[in-house]
Amino acid sequence: MKPAPSPLAYVPFVSVDNMMRLVNSTGVEPFLKGLAACIEEDFKRWPEFGKTPRVASHSRDGVIELMPTADAEHYGFKYVNGHPKNMKEGYQTVTAFGVLSSVANGYPILLSEMTVLTALRTAATSALVGRYLAPRGADCMAMIGNGAQCEFQALAFRVLCGINKLRLYDIDPAATAKAAANLEAQGFEVVRCSDGHSAVEGAQIVTTCTADKQYATILTDNMVGAGIHINAIGGDCPGKTELHRDILLRSDIFVEYPEQTRIEGEIQQLDEDHPVIELWQVMRGEVPGRRDAKQITLFDSVGFATEDFSALRYVHGLIKDSDYFQKLDLLADPDDPRDLFGMLMRAG
Ligand SMILES: NC(=O)c1ccc[n+]([C@@H]2O[C@H](COP(=O)([O-])OP(=O)(O)OC[C@H]3O[C@@H](n4cnc5c(N)ncnc54)[C@H](O)[C@@H]3O)[C@@H](O)[C@H]2O)c1
Repeated sequence: MKPAPSPLAYVPFVSVDNMMRLVNSTGVEPFLKGLAACIEEDFKRWPEFGKTPRVASHSRDGVIELMPTADAEHYGFKYVNGHPKNMKEGYQTVTAFGVLSSVANGYPILLSEMTVLTALRTAATSALVGRYLAPRGADCMAMIGNGAQCEFQALAFRVLCGINKLRLYDIDPAATAKAAANLEAQGFEVVRCSDGHSAVEGAQIVTTCTADKQYATILTDNMVGAGIHINAIGGDCPGKTELHRDILLRSDIFVEYPEQTRIEGEIQQLDEDHPVIELWQVMRGEVPGRRDAKQITLFDSVGFATEDFSALRYVHGLIKDSDYFQKLDLLADPDDPRDLFGMLMRAG
């Protein structure tokens, strides 16, 4: 008789539908706040993680990446793509899924959609970093690039940094119209801007979140005044940057994992030994974040594996005793671990 899968065969799977139920039932902003706390906790224990720049497979149109990391208890990885041309063809620019496993026996303990979760973790990381680097009393943020990540960034900066005024600009006015409608519905004061220069006027934080497979110049040097915090999200691949090099030379540059950021971030435009500040040390209080009101701070964000690990860990905790997951018959688990073939034959 065909044997039923053993209980050990099942892995909790969070589908897109269940992720959306989970986030909506928690509330997007409380979810972002909880997620940021997890990300911060893991940054603060940085030396405990195995780290490597992500493994990228580049093609003419985009990139597919694997992002692994582990601590003593858990191993995690994310599969993620980045294809700027996708949007015009009706596909997402960025899609992802990920796995969290037990280091003790190697069994996965969670398989999850991570397209929605990546937007949330990227936003939570940006706003968490904003707490250390944004000028005191900031309430207005410029957002250049109003695609899929945009609203998540705005909500994270509201819940973590107190931003409630937004100045939006995108080369595609339809993107700005979409983001403005979504964000006004969330209670933001929104100004639609006709170019990048007007977007940055009066903003204390500037988020660049565009997608283009080239050395783009979303911000020129004259657009960046003293005291600004730049949250640069979209320069995250070799040959794909957003800021003019001169801005980098005037900024204090904060990074996740220098070995990866030097390959993928804005700083690929600089010498290999240009000084950067590691965020985990700022979060541990070992080096200062923002020092004064005139300093230009730059978060050269590329997205690092530990942030995805934190996100998976967070979701794994939230779904316990809930119905926000399905049990996936993912692992072959014969009664006698050596009798894999016997299990196959009994199923015939
Ligand atoms: N750092 C990270 O951790 C991280 C995480 C996720 C995504 N990303 C990156 O963030 C970027 C945005 O992702 P998304 O999912 O929102 O992409 P998306 O394609 O949904 O949106 C990108 C937007 O940028 C706009 N744009 C392109 N060129 C522009 C320009 N010159 N000026 C103004 N607007 C311009 C497009 O019209 C589009 O609306 C991508 O480059 C992606 O790779 C980074």
